[in-house]
Amino acid sequence: MASNCATAPAAPLAGVEAVVLVGGLGTRMRPLTLSAPKPMLPTAGVPLLCHLLGRIRAAGVTHVVLGTSYRAEVFESYFGDGSALGLKLDYIVEDKPLGTGGGIRHVASALTEPDVLVFNGDVLSGLDPAEVVQTHRRACADVTLHLVRVPDPRSFGCVPITPGGRVLGFLEKTEDPPTDLINAGCYVFRREVIDSIPSGRAVSVERETFPGLLASGTHLQAHVDNSYWLDLGTPAAFVQGSADLVRGLAPSPALPGSVGEALVLPGATVHPGARVDGGSVVGAGAVVHRGTQVSGSVLMNRAEVGPDAQVQRTVLGVGARVGSCAVLHDAVIGDGAVVGARCELRDGLRVWPGVVLPDGGIRFSADV
Ligand code: GDD
Ligand code: MG
Repeated sequence: MASNCATAPAAPLAGVEAVVLVGGLGTRMRPLTLSAPKPMLPTAGVPLLCHLLGRIRAAGVTHVVLGTSYRAEVFESYFGDGSALGLKLDYIVEDKPLGTGGGIRHVASALTEPDVLVFNGDVLSGLDPAEVVQTHRRACADVTLHLVRVPDPRSFGCVPITPGGRVLGFLEKTEDPPTDLINAGCYVFRREVIDSIPSGRAVSVERETFPGLLASGTHLQAHVDNSYWLDLGTPAAFVQGSADLVRGLAPSPALPGSVGEALVLPGATVHPGARVDGGSVVGAGAVVHRGTQVSGSVLMNRAEVGPDAQVQRTVLGVGARVGSCAVLHDAVIGDGAVVGARCELRDGLRVWPGVVLPDGGIRFSADV
């Protein structure tokens, strides 16, 4: 249960409830998302979704509807009715994924308030959602979008705006983005706008709903924010986000411990002659042996790293084992996989769950 991601109650934010979209397949995160949906992956010691739910609660919103599809059952069995978090949680399941817009439309029957905060469930941010609601109400907008600036907007929704913050266009994943402002995956919808999305079929809010609303003259407003923001859609972003949480660069009310160079969870064992830093997490029952360096990495529960190994910006799945003197940089090791002694894995290499690599079996360098 969700006892370790509870947050302090805040003054209620009247007239607002929240929807979190958590139904995606998390394809780019495989093999980690074969056993858990992306928003449930342990991130700084708790499921990624805990950080967002903590932020929603801290803004004073108490009713949250999770729009689920892929591995829907996992969410309810962890979070239950939400009371441990000070929330009332509802779960609405799509039998077949309806896309982001279809997912928002599908939960409409569970909504009762005039303003609805909608979140992508895989984003870490320092945003105060109450500020987006304020912008929305001040502008009397139909929809307000949280926007951030990124160096390379091509893999996001690109959103040109006027100097006054009115949205001019929405270009999802375009090769030639006209601005560095992108959709950060948090919106406030006026309830009636949600009801106008077609029901019973797949709809992309980014490719269909937003462009359609703009074409019909609907008022879409921007809320541009400079606080921490990261989409945890790839293994590289996932380890980065987890390390940023542990080091306090990404603020979260749900961090289960104090900010520092490493988060060693109860029941983990780190040999005094090992070094664990860079915002690494060592999960419950995980073991790091003598002489090993673990930096900026996520070791899930019961993972084990043998002596004199190097593990950097790498994810070790539940029960994964790494042999002595192995070198893992920017790698992803699936649940229960075994990386033999002296193996050298780099550059985004992914090992599928249960696979066994023999000692010295895979190297980048010629010397062994
Ligand atoms: N319920 C439901 N049903 N949820 C879904 C579905 C679906 O069919 N498809 C995706 N989701 C959820 C995912 O679980 C995730 O939390 C969120 O919607 C966004 O999906 P991603 O697959 O992560 O999209 P993306 O990262 O490529 O792009 C989106 O996010 C960017 C910012 O992080 C877009 O909204 C971009 O415009 C945006 O810039
Ligand atoms: Mg995403």
